[in-house]
Amino acid sequence: MDHYVRIFDTTLRDGEQSPGATMTSAEKLEVARALAKLGVDVIEAGFPAASPDDLEAVRRIAIEVGNSAHGARTPIVCGLARASRSDIDKAWEAVRPAARPRVHTFLATSEIHMQYKLKMDREQVVDRVVEMVGYARSLCEDVEFSPEDAGRSDPKFLYLVLGEAIKAGATTLNIPDTVGYTTPDEFGALIAGILKHTPGIDNCIVSVHCHDDLGLATANTLAGIHAGARQAEVTVNGIGERAGNTSLEEVVMALHTRRLIYNLTTGIDTTQLVRASKLVSNYTGIVVPPNKAIVGANAFAHEAGIHQDGMLKHQLTYEIMRPEAVGVTRTRLVLGKHSGRHALKARLSELGYTLSGAELDKAFERFKALAEKKKTISDADLEALVADEFYQPREVFTLDGLQVTCGTMGMPTATVRLRAPDGQVHTQAAIGTGPVDATYKAIDVIVQAPNTLLEFSVHSITEGIDALGEVTVRIQGKNGARQLDPQRETEHARTFGGHGADTDIIVASAKAYLAALNRLLIASGKFGEGERSSVSGAKVR
Ligand code: KIV
Ligand code: ZN
Repeated sequence: MDHYVRIFDTTLRDGEQSPGATMTSAEKLEVARALAKLGVDVIEAGFPAASPDDLEAVRRIAIEVGNSAHGARTPIVCGLARASRSDIDKAWEAVRPAARPRVHTFLATSEIHMQYKLKMDREQVVDRVVEMVGYARSLCEDVEFSPEDAGRSDPKFLYLVLGEAIKAGATTLNIPDTVGYTTPDEFGALIAGILKHTPGIDNCIVSVHCHDDLGLATANTLAGIHAGARQAEVTVNGIGERAGNTSLEEVVMALHTRRLIYNLTTGIDTTQLVRASKLVSNYTGIVVPPNKAIVGANAFAHEAGIHQDGMLKHQLTYEIMRPEAVGVTRTRLVLGKHSGRHALKARLSELGYTLSGAELDKAFERFKALAEKKKTISDADLEALVADEFYQPREVFTLDGLQVTCGTMGMPTATVRLRAPDGQVHTQAAIGTGPVDATYKAIDVIVQAPNTLLEFSVHSITEGIDALGEVTVRIQGKNGARQLDPQRETEHARTFGGHGADTDIIVASAKAYLAALNRLLIASGKFGEGERSSVSGAKVR
């Protein structure tokens, strides 16, 4: 059997489907570029039938990322479609410019989904699968079919449906545990059964797609791979609906670290994992918990004295992976007040950010301002600074100035100065329950984009009182954009994330809120899309 596991990344589809993970088209393109550099085999770029904007975002990825070689390969670009001609037409229209296009269609096969959601019996489901897989195959050479909710479907019925899908032209059969219900033994046995009993399966790739409702997504995915699946559907940081999807970095590093058990390889450049994680976290506003495996801030921190002692004696006493293998750099203190432009450029380039010209000038200006306030600048500070400067949505409103007064005496008051898209500067003062509340109220009066603040979190990038603070917010527009969920066939209000970093956490809070508001405004369509020039320029190595 083949020893290569294909990594199918669905961050831009199943990941983006999760509340708050909304990204602009320019951000999706940037994530797709990072995924290609990471070495994923398939990029599921979106659900083109959701809206003309979604279709266009997938098309841009197909054109720009699906035609450029990364290392030895060009990734397959895939679009999701419900089992209908109109969805399949849209998915095909979006992915066809790619050198290696794929259409992925799905239909539920569990009794509960067939009875209550589809209102179809088994025979009707089989007929629809045959018709739609056949239709997709008439357009595209590479067709993936998923029996949705396979984890709760009757295995015998699955063998039949999958066999018919193969006859109709499916080339990859993906087995989703849609609701994260199965256990590793069960899921491994399901994959083994499918491989054994499905007619024609030998010429197809079997894929696994697990959700993390019971915290078992990675374990189930590995069990499926162990049983013979050769494609894993994953997302960066495990983002996705509810508890999320299987995390790309966990599966890849498990296969990599325990290769004696699995004897399998992937095409992933593991040194890009942390960078991809940061990019996705910055663009979605979904914070990575510090204890998250592989990419969490504490994943390689050895705080406890006993561990440190062991580590000093021999690194492998408590470390099963080298931090460098996933892109964590060990250097802590790198630059200071007297470091020049050249040193900054060199260090940024070592960290994977190729900046020059105006971008480098901007980064150097930010670096100098930070070095005035903070004695030593670590790699983490530099990465936060680059993220804050370059991984932001196109600016509709820009922060031009902020002044707050707060404390135990008097009312917390903020005066905010914003530059509007027409270049006009607006100044507004407001009082609030605290300095952040006052700042947000003043911003609201100027921007006029009614929303609900769903989440606000602050964390410090490094230790110390002079550390950079990073703020992440998530907002939901009150009468704004809605998003179609391909599986539930319902629409929900889109939510938008934003982040900002500064040594002053009120400034970081204002930047984060403005970033989220700018995303909301861009999604409203009133301010166009367009790529912020510096985003495309700040290249991720
Ligand atoms: O979880 C799921 O069932 C899916 C399918 C559309 C593959 O995301
Ligand atoms: Zn899913």
